[in-house]
Amino acid sequence: MTQDPKSSAPQRLNARNEIADRSLRPADFADFVGQDRTVERLKIMAGAARKRGEALGHVLLSGPPGLGKTTIAMILGQEMGSNIRVTSGPVIEKAGDLAGLLTSLEPRDILFIDEIHRVPRAVEEYLYSAMEDFRIDIMIDQGPNARSVSLKLPPFTLVGATTRTGLLSAPLRSRFVLQTRLDYYSKVNLAQIVARNASLLSFEIDGTCAGEIAGRARGTPRIANNLLRFVRDFAQQRGEGRVSMDAVREALQMLEIDTDGLDEMDRKILVCMAQNYGGGPVGFGTVAVAVGEDLQTIEEVHEPYLIAEGYIQRTAQGRVLTNSGWQKVGLAHAPTGDNSQI
Ligand SMILES: Nc1ncnc2c1ncn2[C@@H]1O[C@H](COP(=O)(O)OP(=O)(O)OP(=O)(O)O)[C@@H](O)[C@H]1O
Ligand SMILES: [Mg+2]
Repeated sequence: MTQDPKSSAPQRLNARNEIADRSLRPADFADFVGQDRTVERLKIMAGAARKRGEALGHVLLSGPPGLGKTTIAMILGQEMGSNIRVTSGPVIEKAGDLAGLLTSLEPRDILFIDEIHRVPRAVEEYLYSAMEDFRIDIMIDQGPNARSVSLKLPPFTLVGATTRTGLLSAPLRSRFVLQTRLDYYSKVNLAQIVARNASLLSFEIDGTCAGEIAGRARGTPRIANNLLRFVRDFAQQRGEGRVSMDAVREALQMLEIDTDGLDEMDRKILVCMAQNYGGGPVGFGTVAVAVGEDLQTIEEVHEPYLIAEGYIQRTAQGRVLTNSGWQKVGLAHAPTGDNSQI
């Protein structure tokens, strides 16, 4: 299955996310809830680098969308007192684009490359010497005048973010001093985020309502924030302005988010696997066509959560519905399926 590396859909999505996210983004580690292991590692690295007056080592952040990769990159800039330059993999089309970015950095600056798995392979190779030796060799001119020039770079930090570590080449991955994966948030942490953000949005919400929103946010702060905003609008338009438990439930029902946080597309995927493919094994390329959703979105957004919650399993033959998956769609195992052991 080939994918157009320049497909603009995820980028448009990201641009929209960015605008909505900005106002609620925690500005420092003190406001950043959860991801304890990652935060602890980063604090140690940043503290030590600051004491030595050196650039922070290169960091690779991976994990599903909306868990805080961009937020952490911004916080690192703040912790290190450095400037942060933001770009994204598909935007760096040629080696010259990368050279331009790198040579404009000041010592200890952070270059944040979002969607780093989408940096073209030909450009990626230039990153190797830039990261390791703070040097980039580029070809200038063409034909008989072509020559390679070696440009010295200031010591900088590359922070890469990716939703797909598997797509990163081994040489690139190994050049990151720290590779750290963000996990889905616990309900308790998400409830804390919801409560904090409600007060940032200037309205009140009690612990039970915050917990209800948190429980349906698929372990993802961005989704929690979106649900919170919708609940606020709902309460203002339909309720008495106050956020009650009834308002929360009605609002979330309107968004077709069930009590386990599954949305319409999650359920569609499970139902499709059960009804059309006897619970699998089935490839997600096939399921994507059947449910009419982009394969990349299914693999980045839906699959990780459905696996984390135990509704599906990944096997060498394809994806398979588990017992919980069958229960979720309210169907019995298909008689022909051989998944009874799962
Ligand atoms: N630990 C956290 N505490 C509080 N809010 C958070 C936290 N992590 C993320 N958020 C909120 O979630 C929003 C989305 O986070 P962010 O943009 O950093 O995700 P991302 O991992 O970069 O997603 P994508 O892969 O789509 O780029 C932030 O604007 C912020 O409001
Ligand atoms: Mg991001």
